[in-house]
Amino acid sequence: MTDRYASFVRSAAGRTLVRRLGLPDPPRLRRHTPGDPLLPGPALLGAATGGRLAEPVGALLTAAGVEVRDPAAGSAAGARVGALVYDATGVTDSTALRQLYDFFHPYARSVLPGGRVVVLGTPPEECATPREATAQRAVEGLIRSIGKEFGRGVTAQLVYVTPDGDDSTRTGLESTLRFLLSGRSAYVSGQVLRVGTGRASAPTDWDRPLDGQVALVTGAARGIGAALARLLARDGARVVALDVPAAGDALAEVANEIGGTAVQLDLTAPDAPDRLARHLADRHGRVDVVVHNAGITRDKTLGRMDPDRWDQVIDVNLSSPERINDVLVGRELIGDGGRIVAVSSIAGIAGNRGQTNYATSKAGVIGLVRSTAPVLGGRGISLNAVAPGFIETRLTARIPLVVREAGRRMNSMAQGGLPVDVAETIGWLAWPASGALRGNVVRVCGQSLLGA
Ligand SMILES: NC(=O)c1ccc[n+]([C@@H]2O[C@H](COP(=O)([O-])OP(=O)(O)OC[C@H]3O[C@@H](n4cnc5c(N)ncnc54)[C@H](O)[C@@H]3O)[C@@H](O)[C@H]2O)c1
Repeated sequence: MTDRYASFVRSAAGRTLVRRLGLPDPPRLRRHTPGDPLLPGPALLGAATGGRLAEPVGALLTAAGVEVRDPAAGSAAGARVGALVYDATGVTDSTALRQLYDFFHPYARSVLPGGRVVVLGTPPEECATPREATAQRAVEGLIRSIGKEFGRGVTAQLVYVTPDGDDSTRTGLESTLRFLLSGRSAYVSGQVLRVGTGRASAPTDWDRPLDGQVALVTGAARGIGAALARLLARDGARVVALDVPAAGDALAEVANEIGGTAVQLDLTAPDAPDRLARHLADRHGRVDVVVHNAGITRDKTLGRMDPDRWDQVIDVNLSSPERINDVLVGRELIGDGGRIVAVSSIAGIAGNRGQTNYATSKAGVIGLVRSTAPVLGGRGISLNAVAPGFIETRLTARIPLVVREAGRRMNSMAQGGLPVDVAETIGWLAWPASGALRGNVVRVCGQSLLGA
């Protein structure tokens, strides 16, 4: 679906009107194309005194082809930069927060359009003292405000990295930086991510980070699922695309286009987990990546909602993923190094009028991730969720105009996201390199004001 307003404001007449009336000004987002450099310009890398990450981060950025500049060396004065990256792990007291101001203030207006801001910290729950935990938690406010302030498609994130890491932590930090700095994260901003430990391996080619992986995508016939199936195939995976029999033609089209296989199955059928497990066992002997993307809405205010609407939504969106996980994990079809990504929604974070059933199911998806990630972590499987905001699909095209416009504009990007933005985020969480990310809920919402 096209965003006519965004097209208009990019015209000469539109630009004048936007300036005169102070209207929302959706920037052109920097999205990923294979082979793109990670950033549109050099990265400025700073660190608070005593930081533990600046050195490894500098090395991995350089290895990734980024020109890294040191503000202390004075080499960056007046230069426009592609990213500001700051190691805040040395901040152990609120008075030391001043170092963040000192780093960001001179360069606040030097970040190129589509540039990136990334701050690295220590998870407050893993800090040595309450003072350190307080200061580390404070950094959230800075990055969320930068996300709202810098504009022009610049995103800002905070990445908490465990101090008790191992090789997987380093690989997870690299995969996270490669995602956040690149155009893959165009519609992700104001997020707080956690990199811990897990089962992880770096790819031989970061342009094909899913080489050799077998990936299942539910709800793959259209919308986000179809975009995801294409993207996972682009990044090297063999894709098993699943959808209801009624969507068989569209599903076959997607599967044929990407050289994947199609499975026509209603996930709510009692024998669905068993049939799916048998298909995966027969065709591939295993599955490395499972994405629970299939979802439905059956909107009505609670007083007018019949029980069927409630039951169907909970069943498709929440109970089916639970049942499928149980069977795939129980039969060890997904095992050590496996990745499961579930699709939640900002409705599951903020709630929504007319969506008590949907919001319950999507909050449940977050509950599933929080409760099950530690259990599956013990088996080397990473479980995370994405929570999309307003994404341009058939689902959002049906929303009445005024509500739709509000949904589109009420975020730091002043526009809706595209299915590919959600797909890129899921793809990154599915990488073998991302095993140290467990139990994260990553919003793909352009830093929506809802539920913020
Ligand atoms: N579009 C958005 O703005 C948005 C926002 C937040 C979350 N989401 C979530 O993202 C996911 C994808 O959304 P979308 O916009 O692409 O939706 P969509 O309706 O375009 O696609 C969903 C797909 O799931 C399939 N499906 C539904 N029930 C199924 C079942 N029982 N068995 C197998 N397949 C089934 C449908 O046939 C369809 O192809 C959903 O979980 C949705 O809740 C979307």
